[in-house]
Amino acid sequence: MTLNFKNRRQKLFEVIEDGVALIPSGNYVTKSHDTDFPFRQDSNFNYLTGFGEPQALLVIAKNHSEHKTFLFLRPKDQLAELWSGRRLGVEKAQKELGIDKVFSIDELDKELPNILLGHKHIYLDMFHNQGFLQKVLGFCQKIGMGKKNKKHKPEKFINLPPIIGKMRLIKEAGEIKLLKRAATISSHAHKAAMAFASPGKNESEVTALMDYISRKEGGHGNAYESIVAGGDNANILHYVDNNMVLNDKELLLIDAGAEFHLYASDITRTFPINGKYTPEQKDLYQIVLEAQEAAIGQVKVGKTLTENHNIAVKILAQGLKDLGVFNESVEEIIEKNLHRTYYPHGTGHWLGLDVHDNSPYLTDELNDIKFTAGMVFTVEPGLYLPKNDEKVPKNLRGIGIRIEDDILVTDKGFENLSKDIPKSIQEVEDTCATDYTTFLL
Ligand code: GLY
Ligand code: MN
Ligand code: MN
Repeated sequence: MTLNFKNRRQKLFEVIEDGVALIPSGNYVTKSHDTDFPFRQDSNFNYLTGFGEPQALLVIAKNHSEHKTFLFLRPKDQLAELWSGRRLGVEKAQKELGIDKVFSIDELDKELPNILLGHKHIYLDMFHNQGFLQKVLGFCQKIGMGKKNKKHKPEKFINLPPIIGKMRLIKEAGEIKLLKRAATISSHAHKAAMAFASPGKNESEVTALMDYISRKEGGHGNAYESIVAGGDNANILHYVDNNMVLNDKELLLIDAGAEFHLYASDITRTFPINGKYTPEQKDLYQIVLEAQEAAIGQVKVGKTLTENHNIAVKILAQGLKDLGVFNESVEEIIEKNLHRTYYPHGTGHWLGLDVHDNSPYLTDELNDIKFTAGMVFTVEPGLYLPKNDEKVPKNLRGIGIRIEDDILVTDKGFENLSKDIPKSIQEVEDTCATDYTTFLL
């Protein structure tokens, strides 16, 4: 299944009125002194080109006399390629990427102002690349000087990511295939982690095993920093230290997802380190599981993420009341947002090229976006009862639980992309009791 980048560029071309869209690639980010973080392509640039190199710029121009699409990229350079890797180069790019006109990035200052001239509107990311924004403003200022030139000059900037975000909201068949593969890879890693973890092992060993499986199966690293959080560490939502010893009778919360061809998975399971949930852990786990299954169960075309959240919150609030965390009625807990102490996050987000996919949540009229076939999102309720919270019954303190799956909306309802990873108490305990090497394929 191929991804039709040209089609996507054409769609964007149709949207930009009297304008030029400027989409820079990702760039190297310094990790320390002269060493960079691993390069990761910008999601929007990838969505429109499929081109994996840094230091490039895609331009889509409505009013240019000859071409609709331009690409600036690094030229071939034997010495640079010897040190830092192969480059596609100007000649091959034109043909392989189906772009109308390709320039070396070294010609940007000379060529881009000529392309901008004749357009009133400039579409670009106004907030995340100040260096590039300043550069474009400089070009616009220069163009504006030629007042007698009988061509439109740039006079309005429009923020581009929400426009591309709308396009990215409904996944094409090829994208769904990549998302499924990412979820499948993660599913092997999560199952292996359940089987591998035991008291005395370190969170870091579990993290390493999951990374190993993910890369061995063709994943391209993690879609986000893995959270491998034993015991009370699970009550830190973005715990990424992953370096503490795992204790008997505690739970291990793992929120980890492989990236496959830049498409993310985002999956959480919470299981007993010694293989058996304690009665208290079971009670809490059942509440979170019930909330998650109820939210997923009602997913169909026309529903919304807010409806998912409201269903989950109601069950979590009832559960907290039943366990003696609150005395108030469920209505009062929700009305006063009391539950937010123990469930401080939302129940899901769009998923795609970004783990929190950069697509809008509201329509232009500010209503919730309704599910349509091809949308993908997470459902991830949790309960977090910190060790030092004296309002929580003693036997429940220090337990943090989240369960997260990746859901695709279909014409018939939904498909759970991460359904292969055990979730019921019995299935989880059975998986914990297996030999982890079975999942190494
Ligand atoms: N892993 C981040 C999240 O669940 O949203
Ligand atoms: Mn997650
Ligand atoms: Mn998530």
